Formats: sequence, structure tokens, C-alpha cells
Amino acid sequence: MTKDQVTVVLIASAWSLGVGVIGALIGWRIRRAPIRWSAGLIAAVAVAGVVAGVIGTARAMFLSAHDLGVVVLVCAVSGVVSSLFALLLARALTRSARRLRGMAAAVGAGQEVRSPGNDPAEIRAVADELARSSERLLDAQARERQLEQSRRELVAWVSHDLRTPLAGLRAMAEALDDGIATDPQRYHRQMLRETNRMSSMVDDLFELSRIHAGALNLTMQPLSLRDVVSESIAGATPVARTRGVELGGRVHSQVEVRADAAALSRIVGNLVMNAVRHTPADGVVLVEGRTAGGTIELSVTDGCGGMDPDEFESVFEVGWRGNHARTPGPDTGAGLGLAIVRGLVEAHHGTVAVSNHGDGCRFIVQLPRPTVA
Ligand SMILES: Nc1ncnc2c1ncn2[C@@H]1O[C@H](COP(=O)(O)OP(=O)(O)OP(=O)(O)O)[C@@H](O)[C@H]1O
Ligand SMILES: [Mg+2]
Repeated sequence: MTKDQVTVVLIASAWSLGVGVIGALIGWRIRRAPIRWSAGLIAAVAVAGVVAGVIGTARAMFLSAHDLGVVVLVCAVSGVVSSLFALLLARALTRSARRLRGMAAAVGAGQEVRSPGNDPAEIRAVADELARSSERLLDAQARERQLEQSRRELVAWVSHDLRTPLAGLRAMAEALDDGIATDPQRYHRQMLRETNRMSSMVDDLFELSRIHAGALNLTMQPLSLRDVVSESIAGATPVARTRGVELGGRVHSQVEVRADAAALSRIVGNLVMNAVRHTPADGVVLVEGRTAGGTIELSVTDGCGGMDPDEFESVFEVGWRGNHARTPGPDTGAGLGLAIVRGLVEAHHGTVAVSNHGDGCRFIVQLPRPTVA
């Protein structure tokens, strides 16, 4: 590099640096101003830096006044044009920022927002994040609403279901107290039955509230599915016999499942009891267990006469008892059994579903197969 060139570089750098420093100071002062001012300032500083460098160098190199005039004019025209362009480009930035603000306000108002897609990368990243947050927020709100709704329904159903037997109990107790009961023995038996039914309902409610609160204390251990099924069948056999329902099980002795013993018994017990209750005399209820790929499958097939496919999902809702059982009788449940089954199965990372099969329906529980250590 010649000596002249070194001088040019030094002079141009010094002038541009001076303009840069002034620009930085102004930038600091207007740091809270709208984004377009910053963009305009960047363009102005860049152009002014060039102009200052050119003028400074030209003067030092003793360019003729005419040449200097031409150079300054060229710089001034390019400076104005590029500053205008900078302001134009900054308008797009301002628009993006405004869109972002609109999105944030919409998220706050609980509306669904979508990422615009054509904004600069950084703004798009923020917009995408906002869109995801809004999705999560809406999901959470929907879940919350649904939970609240089911809680309200549950309270309504429970009060309704408790009021009837309580009124009966009071009437019976008063009759006994007044000595007007014709058959006190029968009254006592009936009162005992009602009390048992109510306390099992309260137990179910307690279990459900623990499931909903995520407060289940499961002790996962390897269990023989066959043993659990045999136990449930033994428990339901007396009821099945009085109803004339044939109850049978078919589980291979080697099917092992990892689960909480009490919870699994409850799952199978609730399904078997439902099946027995909904199968007419001379019908068959069959409980089967097997391994299917990566899952353990337990099915309970009954002779209930089939279910409306619209009800396949509803049966698992809290308090759902079909359309026939809005008024509780001695044999109607509280509609909690299947909600408990689903809650417990899901706590075991499994699924439960129902479908029609033959002249009845089939509930299938799928649990993850224990990994072989
Ligand atoms: N095996 C089945 N066959 C036909 N319908 C069934 C069967 N199991 C359940 N249902 C229907 O689903 C409803 C809900 O069942 P769920 O076990 O949750 O409640 P419930 O048996 O009525 O009362 P609970 O189990 O709380 O005593 C039942 O009322 C019935 O209408
Ligand atoms: Mg039930």
C-alpha cells in the first residue's frame, strides 16, 4: 500500500468513526422511540459516514473545488435516496411489530392466534412462540371448563342420588320409631342394604376425587392376571348365580402384568359387575386375558344386547348411567364405576374402550406389557 493510500484510509476512518460515535449517542438518546427512527438513524449514519469520509479525504488530498462539488453532490443524492429507502423498509418492520402486539393482545384475551409467516426471522420466532402459547392456553382452558362441568354434574348427581335413599331411610326409621312398621325385620334389612349402597357410593366418590386430584398412591408390582381375574370372578359369582348368568374366565397362566394390586382388582371387579348386571338370565359373561404385541389385553364380554355406538364414549363419563336410569332404584348404580375404571387404567398408562360384540358388548383394557429385566 502506498503512503498516499495509507493516509486516505486513516483520514476516511477518522471521519467515519466521528460520525459513528455521534450516531451512537443519538441512538442511545432515541432508544425508546419507534423502531422506524432507529432504522432511519442507521441509514443516515451509514450515509453520513461515507459522506464525511469522502469530504474529509477530498479536502486533505486537495481535490479541485469542482471535483469536490461533484463528489459532494453525488454523496448527497445517494444519501437522500438510501435514507428514503431505509424509512420505507422500516415501515415493514413497524407493521410486523404492530402485528406482534395484536397477537399478544389476542393471546391475553384468550383468542386463537396464528403465526403470520412473512415477517423477519426474529419476529416470526416470537410470533410462533405466541401462537404455541395461545394453543396451550386454550387447551388448558378447555380442559378446565370440562373438568368444572363434570364436577358440577357430579355434585348434582350425587345430591340427587343421596337424597332418595336418605328420604327412604328417614321414613323407615320414623315408622320403626312410631311402632307402626308392620314388618320391622324387613325394614332393618332394607335400611342395612341402603346404608351399604350409600357407603360404597361414598367410597367410589372418594376414589374418583383422588384420581382427579392425581393423588393415587400406586404400588406397581408384577401380578398374575389370572389370579386377579379369578378373584374378581369369585367375588361376582354369587350375584351372577342369583341372576342366572354364567360367568367364566380364560387367562393363560403366564400372563403377567405390572400394576397396583388393589387398583387392578377394582378395574376388573367393576367391569365384571357391570357385565353381570347388564346380562339377562341365561346369558354369558366371559373375562379373557392375553398378551397382544406390546400390551396386555383384558376383555370382558357380556350379553347386554349391544350398545348404541354414540354411547361408547359417554359410558366412561362421571355420573353417566344410560338413558334408562335417571331415577335411582335398588339396582341402579351411581354411574361412577366406569369413570373409576378409566381413571385407574390411565394411571397405569393404559387405555380402555368398549365396542359391540355378538349379542353384547365388550370392554377391552390394554395395559403396557412389563419390560423383561
Ligand atoms: N357391561 C355393560 N353392558 C351394557 N351397558 C353397560 C355396561 N357397563 C356399563 N354400562 C352402561 O354404562 C353406564 C355407566 O356404568 P358405570 O359402571 O360407570 O355406572 P353404574 O354401573 O351405573 O354405577 P356404579 O358402577 O357407580 O355403581 C351404566 O349405567 C350402563 O348404562
Ligand atoms: Mg358400574
